[in-house]
Amino acid sequence: MRILVYGAGVLGGLHAARLYEAGHHVSLVARGERFTTLQQRGVLLARGNSPVIEQLSVPVVDTPAGRYDATLVFVRTHQVDAVLQSIAEFNSTDGGDSGDVLFLLNWAAGPEPLGDVIGHERVLLGFANSGGTMDGEVIRYRRDTLLTRFVSMSLGEPDGRTTPRLERIIQTLRSAGFKARVEPQMDAWLKTHAAFEVPLGQAVHAAGGLEALAGHPPALRSMIEGMRQNLASLPGRPVPRAFNALRIVPEAVLVPVFRRFLRSTAAEPLSTDSPAVSAELDRLASQLRALARHRPGARDSRGLELG
Ligand SMILES: NC(=O)c1ccc[n+]([C@@H]2O[C@H](COP(=O)([O-])OP(=O)(O)OC[C@H]3O[C@@H](n4cnc5c(N)ncnc54)[C@H](OP(=O)(O)O)[C@@H]3O)[C@@H](O)[C@H]2O)c1
Repeated sequence: MRILVYGAGVLGGLHAARLYEAGHHVSLVARGERFTTLQQRGVLLARGNSPVIEQLSVPVVDTPAGRYDATLVFVRTHQVDAVLQSIAEFNSTDGGDSGDVLFLLNWAAGPEPLGDVIGHERVLLGFANSGGTMDGEVIRYRRDTLLTRFVSMSLGEPDGRTTPRLERIIQTLRSAGFKARVEPQMDAWLKTHAAFEVPLGQAVHAAGGLEALAGHPPALRSMIEGMRQNLASLPGRPVPRAFNALRIVPEAVLVPVFRRFLRSTAAEPLSTDSPAVSAELDRLASQLRALARHRPGARDSRGLELG
């Protein structure tokens, strides 16, 4: 399969490298200094804190050209607009074809604004089950834990159908070792995930790190309250249903659960504190506010109907 990957950070680099290793035709789109270092040294991967570094010479481009069967987008939420423009320009050039475009990132605004720019028929949604951090040029991907071993990468059509193109992409990802599955309610899944992730990420940032938040019950309680408000503002029920537990399980039970999670390796990627992470959380928060405003029957603080 001919695959274009946007975003040469943690997830883009990891997926491009594994797909390339599995024998697919991969081009990784990178920019600035990252483009130059990837050209010189390739993608560098390490599992957790391991000193062993794998090097894979994945073909890297700064401007895509040619025809692809699929494009995978792994950038931060606030970086999507520029990528959409780039894909639209690429498709309008002679011989340029991005194929189907799978957005594998945090996104709570639904498929419509994506399709408005690149064509609704191209859009697929998803979310990776891998994680990690950048350590200079090295992508340190998360080791599997008991918690993450059972989590799959979720992919879906905007209308929930299981189509041949979706199955093809899933097979391709599986061929590269990623546990991928169809999620029939991918848009609702992403909105639920954002409802959870924004208060979590903001609380980690405000507390000054994972351990600081784990040791501060009032901050954990206020984070749980933020999650509850977000979940209540979603247009439908949380997906997966298990997230409903955040609404009904007492705080006294949830606080120790979150403390344990924050101290586990599964939470490590949340410790990344960078302008890109803050900007992503801000953009996701504004996507969630827009959802709350447009929810049928939503009212402002004076009780006036919104929307
Ligand atoms: N890392 C994790 O553990 C993890 C886990 C699950 C989900 N996610 C989500 O997955 C998404 C991707 O995360 P990530 O950790 O891979 O992000 P990341 O490490 O910040 O990588 C994003 C990469 O995309 C590049 N980029 C942005 N706009 C571009 C453009 N127009 N053209 C070319 N390259 C562009 C960035 O380059 P610059 O550095 O030049 O901006 C950066 O290298 C996010 O939504 C994140 O929340 C991450």
